[in-house]
Amino acid sequence: MGIFDGQVVVVTGAARGLGRDYAKYFAADGAHVVLADLKEPTSAAADAAKAGPRCLAAQADVTDRDSVAALMRRCRDEFGRLDVLINNAGMWRGLAEAGLLGIDDELWDAAWRLNVTGSLRCFQEAVPLMAEREYGRIVNVSSIASRQGNNAYGLTKNAVEQMTRGMAIEAGEHGITVNCLAPGIAAFEAAQSQLPNADAMVAGNVVKRVGASRELYEGLRYLCAAESSWITGQTLRVDGGASAR
Ligand SMILES: NC(=O)c1ccc[n+]([C@@H]2O[C@H](COP(=O)([O-])OP(=O)(O)OC[C@H]3O[C@@H](n4cnc5c(N)ncnc54)[C@H](O)[C@@H]3O)[C@@H](O)[C@H]2O)c1
Repeated sequence: MGIFDGQVVVVTGAARGLGRDYAKYFAADGAHVVLADLKEPTSAAADAAKAGPRCLAAQADVTDRDSVAALMRRCRDEFGRLDVLINNAGMWRGLAEAGLLGIDDELWDAAWRLNVTGSLRCFQEAVPLMAEREYGRIVNVSSIASRQGNNAYGLTKNAVEQMTRGMAIEAGEHGITVNCLAPGIAAFEAAQSQLPNADAMVAGNVVKRVGASRELYEGLRYLCAAESSWITGQTLRVDGGASAR
């Protein structure tokens, strides 16, 4: 018996990377998983379906209100409920390097639109569906970089952590908790042995290695458990101790 038996979980950004692994782990824990991504998530959904019950591929753009509304309608039509939303879709490549003086408008806007507005849109459309059953677990994904003020990645992820607190306050009356997971440098299963500069990246960690998607999932599993009903508005840092310094 899995801890998410019969529950419906939406993971955004699930076509590849960490989101793809989260979907698989939720399925193995008994959930029906809706894998949402801008890119076609069919192969990721087939992979997740091997681990557990029914998994659906849903092409969706989290930055687009109509697309997110259609995603939530699909959850209602297929399953009649939504229990868990993982706002994992996000961008990081090239953002830290661009800094502040050099970043162009397009990249700056794209970072805010996906990392912040994308999570807001999904929250706005998910809460009414969760509220129908007076139950929900929402986790936004931040990063160890949220403490950096010198680049768009850190700034958007800092905004995600602050926004989590506001979301928790507004959604709480409906039995919905909203928390945030802040991962350190972590690799998804397919890339575990391929990180080129892992040594340099983990220099600031207390636990001197790259994290695994499974270790991040343990944080999600905890925050999304029915028993975690009195934890809301919090950020859980799963980062090999990097933020302890
Ligand atoms: N990988 C890490 O070490 C690490 C560390 C800290 C935080 N994070 C965070 O974890 C999350 C996942 O990271 P990752 O490394 O797996 O990223 P990734 O780039 O490998 O995957 C992101 C996924 O999001 C999808 N996506 C992009 N725009 C979208 C949109 N508009 N609508 C729907 N889906 C969209 C992409 O198609 C892709 O499948 C991100 O929020 C990232 O900031 C990652």
